[in-house]
Amino acid sequence: MPITTCIFDAYGTLFDVTAAAREAAGEPGREALAEVWPGLAEDWRRKQLEYTWLRAITGEHKDFWAVTQDGLDWALDAQSLSGDADLRDRLLALYRELSAFPEVPDMLARLKAAGFATAILSNGSPGMLDDAVGSAGIGDLLDDVLSVESVGIFKPARQVYELVTTRFACARDSVLFVSSNGWDVAAATGFGFFTAWVNRAGAPQDRLGHPPHEILPDLTAIPDIAQAI
Ligand code: LAC
Repeated sequence: MPITTCIFDAYGTLFDVTAAAREAAGEPGREALAEVWPGLAEDWRRKQLEYTWLRAITGEHKDFWAVTQDGLDWALDAQSLSGDADLRDRLLALYRELSAFPEVPDMLARLKAAGFATAILSNGSPGMLDDAVGSAGIGDLLDDVLSVESVGIFKPARQVYELVTTRFACARDSVLFVSSNGWDVAAATGFGFFTAWVNRAGAPQDRLGHPPHEILPDLTAIPDIAQAI
């Protein structure tokens, strides 16, 4: 079936989640971060995601902003930086104003010009997503921003992917779902979406079954793929 609707994961896919720690490390007075920021950023992201999966399994949901702070607290602790309240505040402030990857505005504009519906489907809480979309300046290029908060459980719960087919009243195989997270793409493929995995880091493919239909180094080719299906 031809694609009508292009859906994007947010953090790591449209927005560069490593930017907060990288930018903080470049600021005056942050020498403690200069060498450890890559490890801090990696721990922060890994713990943030682990906590979403664990909370989905146990049914103890709290929103992604709270989980993001929990992940950061673990990551700061791992670097013996827990006592630096100013650094914690700065990293969280930067996380609220992440930049989009450079190709994102043009890619979304090409999709809109070609007549596709476009939206975000994210674990992010509505407030976080509003901030990120606003700071990236891409609000006019999206038809909607769908947050898991409306179903109260994180990806990869099926109810999350159903938000798309309900909102756009579309068949599963008319959706192109794009994510940088291999596990998110696997769940979306299993759900019945056509999927593209954005593998910027050249990571190995997740062993979860449901391989992605396309594997891309960045988002530039998304409009061509959507039109070719
Ligand atoms: C999201 C996370 C998984 O935006 O990146 O949903």
